[in-house]
Amino acid sequence: MLGNFSYHNPTKLYFGDESLGFLKDELDKYGKNVLLVYGGGSIQKNGIYDEVISILRDCGKNVAEVPGVMPNPTVEKLYEGLRIAREHQTDFILAVGGGSVCDYAKAVSVSIHCDDDPWQKYYVRFEEPTCEIVPVGCVLTMAGTGSEMNAGSVITNHDAKLKIGHVFGDNVMPKFSILNPKYTMTLPKYQMIAGIYDIMNHICEQYFSGEDDNTSDYISEGLMRSLIHASRIAVQDPQNYEARSNIMWTATWALNTLVSRGKSTDWMVHMLGQAVGAYTDATHGMTLAAVSLPYYRYIMPYGLQKFARFAAEVWGISAADKTTEELAEAGLSAMEAWMQELGLVMKTSELGVTEDMIEGIADATLILDGGYRVLNRDEIVQILKASM
Ligand code: NZQ
Ligand code: ZN
Repeated sequence: MLGNFSYHNPTKLYFGDESLGFLKDELDKYGKNVLLVYGGGSIQKNGIYDEVISILRDCGKNVAEVPGVMPNPTVEKLYEGLRIAREHQTDFILAVGGGSVCDYAKAVSVSIHCDDDPWQKYYVRFEEPTCEIVPVGCVLTMAGTGSEMNAGSVITNHDAKLKIGHVFGDNVMPKFSILNPKYTMTLPKYQMIAGIYDIMNHICEQYFSGEDDNTSDYISEGLMRSLIHASRIAVQDPQNYEARSNIMWTATWALNTLVSRGKSTDWMVHMLGQAVGAYTDATHGMTLAAVSLPYYRYIMPYGLQKFARFAAEVWGISAADKTTEELAEAGLSAMEAWMQELGLVMKTSELGVTEDMIEGIADATLILDGGYRVLNRDEIVQILKASM
């Protein structure tokens, strides 16, 4: 464990099938004008909307709504929400949905009292908020992004063909999040498995960096083993509460800053996946699944010991009669087989990527330097071609 770091996470969590009961206590702490933000209709179909509205009424809140937050929320939708939030003189934003809704709520929260254009300020210039931040709370309905306990907010700009994430400071993290695993049971299988792979990849992005002996890596291995185990149960039996609750809990810990402590962290699979997302608007977890193996096979020689450890500690593969290279490759093959077993999309061409997009996607890929190799543009093109 080599780094110098601080650790603070201010989000209060309520977990379990009775967790919505705590919403009233939390809402009582904030002002009267609540902005209720949600997606394209799932919460109306499964009854969560009615439950939340009745609690808001009991609390005497004055509610305005921003419905229709789409997966991969857009900058145009952000401007629309800002208009409503300002007219309503919003005191508090309640996000009810998945990562898109939660990310969107954070983007609105840092922009309501800000005169600058939020896309330019936060997603082009990467500035920190200089204005009052409206507090956000979250009722999570999909496990995957970790947005419920982090400061990330990803917005897509289709005109610019860019999908950019800004990781804000602690003051933008949700004040509280309500995690009821039962709410995730109405997710279509496609979304459930995309979320599962998003969780797996968040852990990998942090795990595949550094060569020191680091407590974060041991925590990550435990989280990955739990996720793999629970995912196999959940794909067979989606109504299995125990499996769904373990998936929800690993999602939160995979990306709430804990396992990144003392790590340089990689995040190149996400940079590639986000660029694919900017061109295709595909489901986030699927974009990651489709680029992962070409990326990891490419960088494996540069982080060989860690890939061998991944094989042994996460996938339980014996080192006997294997070279380090063979062991490392066996780990990636085990991950590949698990991904196929879940039913993930393994090729970017299945997400709509065509040959003529490759150069543009490469241009939209931010190059980061925390992993085992800093890629150049030619290598990015090579990986993108191998992912088709
Ligand atoms: O819009 P509705 O009708 O609610 O349907 C949603 C949406 O179509 C549906 N859904 C959610 N909960 C459901 C449900 N359907 C039935 N029952 C339920 N209980 O699922 C679909 C996907 O939802 P979305 O919120 O888009 O998924 P996810 O949680 O994967 O969020 C993806 C967004 O988060 C960003 C991604 O880039 C993407 O924009 N990320 C945010 C991160 C962060 N804040 O740290 C990190 C991640 O790496 C990621 O980049
Ligand atoms: Zn992700």
